[in-house]
Amino acid sequence: MSKHEQNVIVGLDIGTSKIACVVAEASPDGHIDVIGIGKHASRGLRKGVVVNIESTVESIRLAVEEAEMMSGSEIHSVFVGIAGNHIHGCNSHGVVATKNGEVTEEDVKRAVDAASAMAIPADQKILHILPQEYIIDQQDGIREPIGMSGVRLEARVHMITGAVSSAQNIIKCCNRCDLDVADMVLEQVASSESVLSQDEKDIGVVLIDIGGGTTDIAIFIDGAICHTAVIPIGGDHLTNDLVIGLRTSAREADQLKIKYGSCMVEMIAPEEQVEVPSVGGRQPRPMPRQIMAQILEPRVHELFELVKAELQRSGYQELIAAGLVLTGGSSLLEGMVELAEETFDGLPVRLGRPQGVGGLVDVVSSPIYATSVGLLLYGQRYRQQTPHKHPSQSKQGLFQRMRRWFGDTS
Ligand SMILES: Nc1ncnc2c1ncn2[C@@H]1O[C@H](COP(=O)(O)OP(=O)(O)OP(=O)(O)O)[C@@H](O)[C@H]1O
Ligand SMILES: [Mg+2]
Repeated sequence: MSKHEQNVIVGLDIGTSKIACVVAEASPDGHIDVIGIGKHASRGLRKGVVVNIESTVESIRLAVEEAEMMSGSEIHSVFVGIAGNHIHGCNSHGVVATKNGEVTEEDVKRAVDAASAMAIPADQKILHILPQEYIIDQQDGIREPIGMSGVRLEARVHMITGAVSSAQNIIKCCNRCDLDVADMVLEQVASSESVLSQDEKDIGVVLIDIGGGTTDIAIFIDGAICHTAVIPIGGDHLTNDLVIGLRTSAREADQLKIKYGSCMVEMIAPEEQVEVPSVGGRQPRPMPRQIMAQILEPRVHELFELVKAELQRSGYQELIAAGLVLTGGSSLLEGMVELAEETFDGLPVRLGRPQGVGGLVDVVSSPIYATSVGLLLYGQRYRQQTPHKHPSQSKQGLFQRMRRWFGDTS
């Protein structure tokens, strides 16, 4: 493997609407520059889950080839996203006694293991164990416990599990394209790496990634993730509503939504008109733009109400002082931020564009690339933790997990 390839990190976002492959080069100081992007329409997924291996493999291959061509590097290993409503998140804690009255790396590992020792259904496997805080004796709120004195170490973690079969299908699709999976990352965990600031995570923030098939939620309090959820509604539902309401094809409806759509009726002047292409060779018809907004507004409002109910269920709604950050392709719909502000009773709302990388930033700063860029940043951190190895050589942990996913416990 050439030196150039050793420094290459690749994020592969297998979404319901598109498959995006983003290639970056990492410099020794940890800075990463995007050097290639490949994007292709996705046809083999439903609500974030692979349902057709053949079509997914084909789309991945095309996106990866495009990214290889643009970056001039061969892609062997990818950080890949996983999503869907088979994902479950829960909080857990574990306690151990420290061995020598001072917390060591080994003690931390044992405490996190104890926290993750929970009964999970046989068809689910652990995807992430994300530490929230450590408590040493009576002192809580500790983020870096190693080296501190104390006899009792408690770890609080957010544990994310997913369906074994969905994870296996993603690995299968990648392997069929001759790609190794360096690690698999929950999509909203990846997106949060690229669009949220550390300050927001510390103060308390909700990430809402509105894609094509699903809306993925992650809540951060005190710098750590504490709640994750998936709502099976996304931009495709908005497009379908337009197909029915405007009697046009899905392709045209999606284009119309992207060009002229809005989810705030009051933001549109009554005289604004759009041309709606008809199906079956009939003449295009003019239509007031407000009619489109009248179709889209109730659906987006319904989506935000579902998010609101999820926040209430989580019990954290009083703690999110930094408000909401919207990302994903559908967050680009005109009026999204305004309607969210209205629905969430004045909580601050902003659009989240991916940040933290250099290179081809003009393209990847769209919310569409939040997950892909997040996968790069996650990959970079993962690599810094195992600095001497390339992901394809350092995947012992993932291999062990993958073996468990495939039911091989030997
Ligand atoms: N400018 C825009 N205005 C409104 N909607 C848009 C715009 N650009 C893209 N979209 C919509 O965003 C959706 C795709 O978003 P995204 O690329 O984040 O989805 P995905 O990651 O493939 O899907 P998922 O995350 O649900 O699996 C589509 O429904 C598309 O119509
Ligand atoms: Mg997505």
